[in-house]
Amino acid sequence: MVRTPQQIQDIQQKLAKIESWYHRIDLGDGIETPGHFRMADYLRFYNLPERMDGMRVLDVGASTGFFAYEFERRGALEVVGVELPSWGDHDWTPRYRREFEQKSASDKSNIDREVMRDGFTVVGEALQSKRVRRIWKAIYDLRVEELGQFDIVFSGAMLMHVRDPVLGIQRMRECCKPDGRLIVSISSIFPDSKESIAKFVGEWNQCNWWQMSPRCLEEVLQCCDFDRIEHRETYTLQDVTGKFHDPTFVCHARPRIG
Ligand SMILES: C[S@@+](CC[C@H](N)C(=O)[O-])C[C@H]1O[C@@H](n2cnc3c(N)ncnc32)[C@H](O)[C@@H]1O
Repeated sequence: MVRTPQQIQDIQQKLAKIESWYHRIDLGDGIETPGHFRMADYLRFYNLPERMDGMRVLDVGASTGFFAYEFERRGALEVVGVELPSWGDHDWTPRYRREFEQKSASDKSNIDREVMRDGFTVVGEALQSKRVRRIWKAIYDLRVEELGQFDIVFSGAMLMHVRDPVLGIQRMRECCKPDGRLIVSISSIFPDSKESIAKFVGEWNQCNWWQMSPRCLEEVLQCCDFDRIEHRETYTLQDVTGKFHDPTFVCHARPRIG
């Protein structure tokens, strides 16, 4: 993709209009989105197929889109990014919800535009994306009748944000082809423990509920009709400042058939 200086400037101006970015994404020509997490540095831990030609991929909790556009770059035929319609649709703690409800309608709408919507759109335009689309839904509302089944269902760093991760995993299982796979990463605890532990972390931040040990996630996956767990990996996710550290567990789960 060859861009004119004017096109480069236009992209930079669009990026600058958005204050809040989750992902730091390389858009070429020296342009990067100014996000907190440069996930390209951690891709090796996810063990994604080098090529995804012909695949349908569901990216649940796509945020500003690093993974969705990476799947397209690897050749996926169709990528569906799932995001909440609005900031207010998170499973907030009651305390944060009370604070949030105090905000004016225009502040709320700016948050929706900046945090939930525009980043993903601007990245797609800059990359001249053709095979990625976004839908607005909570994980609980994923329905196979509407979306069909996918070769890969991906859920990166989002299950700790949902109050009912077991239901979320059940919904993702329904959308997984029998020969497909779920690739999931979680903010983990006790990565070396053999115990199945879920820790309640509702006091940690505005929208965090459960952290699981790797063993716990694997048992939840098995109870939700995944039988083979493949590719277990643990790494420490850091933001670009290096101040935020999060032990992260990644695994692939294959559906139980029959
Ligand atoms: C920490 S970000 C992770 C972004 C990306 N998946 C990654 O791994 O880099 C979590 C994303 O999940 C979304 N999310 C949170 N709760 C959700 C829910 N109940 N249903 C769908 N998405 C949700 C958030 O809006 C946010 O964009």
